[in-house]
Amino acid sequence: MRFSSLLASASLAFVVTAHPGPHATPSDAEMAHKAKLSGRCAQHVARFNEKRWKRDLGHIGNTTVQIQTQAPVYEALQNDTCVLTPEVTAGPYYWPRSQTLRQDMTEDQVGVPLWLDIGVMDMATCSPLEGVMVDFWHCNATGSYSSFTKLSPNIKFPKLLAEEGKNISDFVVGSTDIHTDSETWLRGMWPTDEHGMMQMKTIFPGFYIERAIHIHVQVHTDWTTRENGTLVFENTVSTGQLYFDEELEEKIMAMEPYSSHTQINRTRNAVDMEFSKGTKNFYNPVVSVVPLDENNLSKGLVGYITIGVDTSAIEDEHWSAS
Ligand SMILES: *[C@@H]1O[C@H](CO)[C@@H](O)[C@H](O)[C@H]1NC(C)=O
Ligand SMILES: *[C@@H]1O[C@H](CO)[C@@H](O)[C@H](O)[C@H]1NC(C)=O
Ligand SMILES: *[C@@H]1O[C@H](CO)[C@@H](O)[C@H](O)[C@H]1NC(C)=O
Ligand SMILES: *[C@@H]1O[C@H](CO)[C@@H](O)[C@H](O)[C@H]1NC(C)=O
Ligand SMILES: *[C@@H]1O[C@H](CO)[C@@H](O)[C@H](O)[C@H]1NC(C)=O
Ligand SMILES: *[C@@H]1O[C@H](CO)[C@@H](O)[C@H](O)[C@H]1NC(C)=O
Ligand SMILES: *[C@@H]1O[C@H](CO)[C@@H](O)[C@H](O)[C@H]1NC(C)=O
Repeated sequence: MRFSSLLASASLAFVVTAHPGPHATPSDAEMAHKAKLSGRCAQHVARFNEKRWKRDLGHIGNTTVQIQTQAPVYEALQNDTCVLTPEVTAGPYYWPRSQTLRQDMTEDQVGVPLWLDIGVMDMATCSPLEGVMVDFWHCNATGSYSSFTKLSPNIKFPKLLAEEGKNISDFVVGSTDIHTDSETWLRGMWPTDEHGMMQMKTIFPGFYIERAIHIHVQVHTDWTTRENGTLVFENTVSTGQLYFDEELEEKIMAMEPYSSHTQINRTRNAVDMEFSKGTKNFYNPVVSVVPLDENNLSKGLVGYITIGVDTSAIEDEHWSAS
């Protein structure tokens, strides 16, 4: 099992050129800068992880005792850190107005329970970042996103857009409005505590056309919430996608309700265009997973990852969900 960090900056509006999730490739200099930051914090990530294991996880439910006792299995922690490329990936289902403040974003969605245990580290100081908002969104067990439930997960994005009377070359993430409803499931966010940690309960995601299984994540350093629990933010310091091990995915996808998604074949990590970008150099966006019960995955999984944030990479953003 590995721990890793992610690091990225993002710009709210960027033009999608080809398929869901694509974006400008960062310059070599930019990538090298981040790889350097990432490597420099490796030892700190190891210490961060030690603390993580010793932390009281009591508030995430009945499963915590098992998590604690299973911790020693992962003695050989890898300290590689991971830096996601900027603008890799807000993707077309980015929809902040449906992101709500909560620690369980499952709602009525069925699937294997997943507790995400996230650490956020400031790559400039290699120390935990307190009070930053960690924001997730992902598809359900059969590939649909809330707020976009009428868009088929089995149809390529340009074609979906064409069906909506829109041209892919004009599509701007977060700006071109193709939402179909106000469902909010599997969208949620919560700020980090004084140890730079936060938890989110969800389900293991399914997949949609042309994409490996992934969870979108953003980190905001400057935020407030509205009365209805949605976010108003100025700065996004990280936009990334989290992935899982292929072997685990194979097992989960063989289970109901995931296995009912037979209309398309799943895209493996190895051939996913975004995954290869996210794993270049020292980058490792693969979540470490501890099953609550090795013999019965449907009982649920705990996923751990450290997100490395380059606070100097903040880009000015203003999201007003008017
Ligand atoms: C959690 O533990 C309580 C007390 O032991 C029990 O009543 C409850 O059913 C448990 N919940 C789950 C989801 O296992
Ligand atoms: C990770 O860090 C720990 C503690 O600093 C060190 O003992 C270990 O050798 C490192 N492991 C790797 C794979 O670098
Ligand atoms: C929350 O309020 C904002 C602003 O009025 C609105 O745009 C958004 O749709 C609301 N979101 C939810 C989930 O109620
Ligand atoms: C996923 O969401 C879609 C759209 O709401 C729904 O039709 C489908 O049944 C959901 N999948 C599961 C496994 O519930
Ligand atoms: C989409 O827009 C591009 C550039 O604006 C244009 O060249 C192309 O013909 C348009 N395609 C369709 C199907 O409208
Ligand atoms: C999935 O892949 C298999 C093996 O390549 C192929 O036979 C099958 O037709 C594919 N199914 C779909 C729905 O594309
Ligand atoms: C596996 O866990 C699920 C969820 O707790 C439960 O419904 C099921 O009966 C378990 N299966 C076995 C074989 O124990």
